Amino acid sequence: MKQLNVGILGLGTVGGGTYKVLTRNAEEISRRTGVNIKVTHVADRNIEMAKAQVAADVVVTDDAFSVVNHPSVDVVVELIGGYTVSKALLLAAIANKKHVVTANKALIAVHGNEIFSAASANNVIVAFEAAVAGGIPIIKALREGLGANHVEWVAGIINGTTNFILTEMREKGLSYQDVIGEAQRLGYAEADPTFDVEGIDAAHKLTIMSAIAFGMPMKFDEAYTEGITRLEQVDIQYAEELGYRVKLLGITKRTDDGVELRVHPTLIPEKRLIANVNGAMNAVVVKGDAVGPTLYYGAGAGAEPTASSVVADLMDVARLIDASSAQRVPYLAFQPDQVKDLPVLPIDQVKSAYYLRLRASDKPGVLAEVTKILGDRAISIDAMMQKEPEENETEADIVILTHITVEENMNAAIAAIEALSAITGKVVRIRMEELAK
Ligand code: HSE
Repeated sequence: MKQLNVGILGLGTVGGGTYKVLTRNAEEISRRTGVNIKVTHVADRNIEMAKAQVAADVVVTDDAFSVVNHPSVDVVVELIGGYTVSKALLLAAIANKKHVVTANKALIAVHGNEIFSAASANNVIVAFEAAVAGGIPIIKALREGLGANHVEWVAGIINGTTNFILTEMREKGLSYQDVIGEAQRLGYAEADPTFDVEGIDAAHKLTIMSAIAFGMPMKFDEAYTEGITRLEQVDIQYAEELGYRVKLLGITKRTDDGVELRVHPTLIPEKRLIANVNGAMNAVVVKGDAVGPTLYYGAGAGAEPTASSVVADLMDVARLIDASSAQRVPYLAFQPDQVKDLPVLPIDQVKSAYYLRLRASDKPGVLAEVTKILGDRAISIDAMMQKEPEENETEADIVILTHITVEENMNAAIAAIEALSAITGKVVRIRMEELAK
């Protein structure tokens, strides 16, 4: 049987999981591919830890470049993360005409265009299923399974850390500050959780899905990114009273004017399946013109779930290694000369419905002033709720759900509402998506 020699860079959580899955399921994997996929080299800074995890015949080194440059390695699996060393290693592997598999979403979202063009020039495969939503085969679904469709939009819960935090906030009535500490203790959140909680990790994954869904280059720099750190418990409660759940969604949508590419907290009707994706799980809804909405759900992180995607990519490499680049599925799903530089809409041109919460003096005429401001800007109200002022308080929370409008229109309305003498503080605004059509 033909053998595919694999060099793994980084034997951490995902690297270790990849080695385990490849070894445990070796027989079945070779029955599926007709190829013996064999890890021959491993690079990790911690040589002793790495040696303890792999068979004696695997070469273990702390010099990742020696793996990338080794003539017998056919495919390099990059599981180091970050942008700098990993990029140099990946480009070196490609220059050496080695295929590469990576789980590095940041690298693909930020430097993917350069990496794909180098890979194309060297006629090698770059596979990155594990970069988006861990174990969910969403890249394959978008690139191949849904290939017949004109994809209209993609919306996903693509960060487990923030979904865990939001679930805890909703179920236990806790604040963001209360939950982040617990999430760190349980290992759901990193010591520096910025990438997750500010929506950057989700924006990396969304950027990749957007490129594949619409056949455009990676445009991470133009993604609108808003995290969950300012989300208040009271808004989660009010949303619930109105039949909605708050989720950190990555949304990318094709419109006549350009592509929406945005990550932000979002109200979703609670009856949608995706609204009920809880804890650290991920889910992605893809709307295709032929198939309608389809939902993909599963573990977005973790050793073996992510390894499941890495190994599937290795199996693709094993199957496709002899195919010319013209016969392979293109990196971004569309033929390279058919990738279009579609404009990404600035957030103030995005259309959305809104949840607004304002704190208003409980006196006659205030609501009329607020609704006039909205009405003057052709913003239609969908639902409204006024809470009783607390005892000894003279101000009440007013919650308004609007129909769809352009964000710049809403910005102007919010500025006018905040300028009213009867309104205290800032208006809280959370975007809403029906995700129905
Ligand atoms: N940090 C990510 C998450 C997992 O919380 O979903 C890896 O992408």
